[in-house]
Amino acid sequence: MFSGRAWRLVKFGDPREAVELQEMTWEEPAAGQLLIRVRTAGAGLPDAMMAAGHFPLLGQPPFGLGEEAAGEVVAVPPGSRFAVGDQVTGITGFLEGWGGYADYTYLREGSTIRIPAGMTDEEAGGFPIGFRTAYAALVERAPLQAGQTLLVLGAAGSSGATATQLGKALGAKVIAVAGSQEKLEFAARHGADEVVNYRTDDLAARIADLTGGQGVDLIFDPVGGETAATALKGIARGGRIALAGLASGAPVALDSMDMLLRNYTAVGVLATPLAPDAEAAAWDHLAGLAEKGAIAVPLGRVHAFDEVPRMIAEQTTPGAGKSVVRVAAR
Ligand SMILES: NC(=O)c1ccc[n+]([C@@H]2O[C@H](COP(=O)([O-])OP(=O)(O)OC[C@H]3O[C@@H](n4cnc5c(N)ncnc54)[C@H](OP(=O)(O)O)[C@@H]3O)[C@@H](O)[C@H]2O)c1
Repeated sequence: MFSGRAWRLVKFGDPREAVELQEMTWEEPAAGQLLIRVRTAGAGLPDAMMAAGHFPLLGQPPFGLGEEAAGEVVAVPPGSRFAVGDQVTGITGFLEGWGGYADYTYLREGSTIRIPAGMTDEEAGGFPIGFRTAYAALVERAPLQAGQTLLVLGAAGSSGATATQLGKALGAKVIAVAGSQEKLEFAARHGADEVVNYRTDDLAARIADLTGGQGVDLIFDPVGGETAATALKGIARGGRIALAGLASGAPVALDSMDMLLRNYTAVGVLATPLAPDAEAAAWDHLAGLAEKGAIAVPLGRVHAFDEVPRMIAEQTTPGAGKSVVRVAAR
């Protein structure tokens, strides 16, 4: 048995009041889990949605927060492909109440990899959710072909910045959409070929300009709302929109008659595990791209462990890049 601290949501509400540091114990992991001592944990808008009670897949508090974490394996079930002492990163058991903002956490074994060579702890803690979501969209659900044009909304955010990188690694031309000069520069530094400010530019007109009137082949949409509706005016015939989230507060309202007349498709994207072999192949592919430097975590702010409640509150208006929490030193 392992003992330590964990930030847990005790009621829905403002995270600065509703997230408490509690003493916890962790038993030996069950089949399909690993127990790690956490060094870093990745943050994102879903943390704030969970605290507010707006995350669809969770029940009532109390539960731990933090969807992804990196650290050292301290216990494995019999027959595991991991061993005590392995350095790993993966998706936590957050759906069962075990988050990454804690001294220890359980990872889903099938959604865990050994930390690729050259990856820092901060990058490792922020790797799994963004890249697995981007992979679900750009490889599994709306496969992107080399040479196609990908439009990424929320392109300086956690999901968008990883989709930009994966899109480039798959050989696409990437148009990044964000709402400030700082965020556009961030997107360009992290691989975007073109950038558009949806607040100051005419997004539909810019898409037409940048694609010679053809439109974009794929839209990665973690934003929804009006911005996604405007982006859809610039989708190519036969194009696809991958619906990954609703950072604007609402999913895009789809017009089925418009879809019929302009021949485009909308697909939902939820990064849930595939059958074990296919899931392992997805993670191997991502780890391989990271190892050869084709993708890297677009790091934003690194927070101290005692800042977690405030950090979660700030996830509704984060700066550019992936926020990560440093839980413990190596
Ligand atoms: N499907 C899945 O498996 C999956 C996995 C992870 C996350 N998600 C979802 O994806 C969404 C985004 O999460 P995230 O962690 O990437 O959030 P994030 O880091 O906060 O990024 C979201 C971005 O959206 C932009 N944005 C906010 N409101 C906007 C608006 N009205 N119009 C245009 N852009 C707007 C913001 O940038 P600007 O300042 O540039 O506007 C922000 O950078 C959430 O709904 C989350 O639940 C889904």
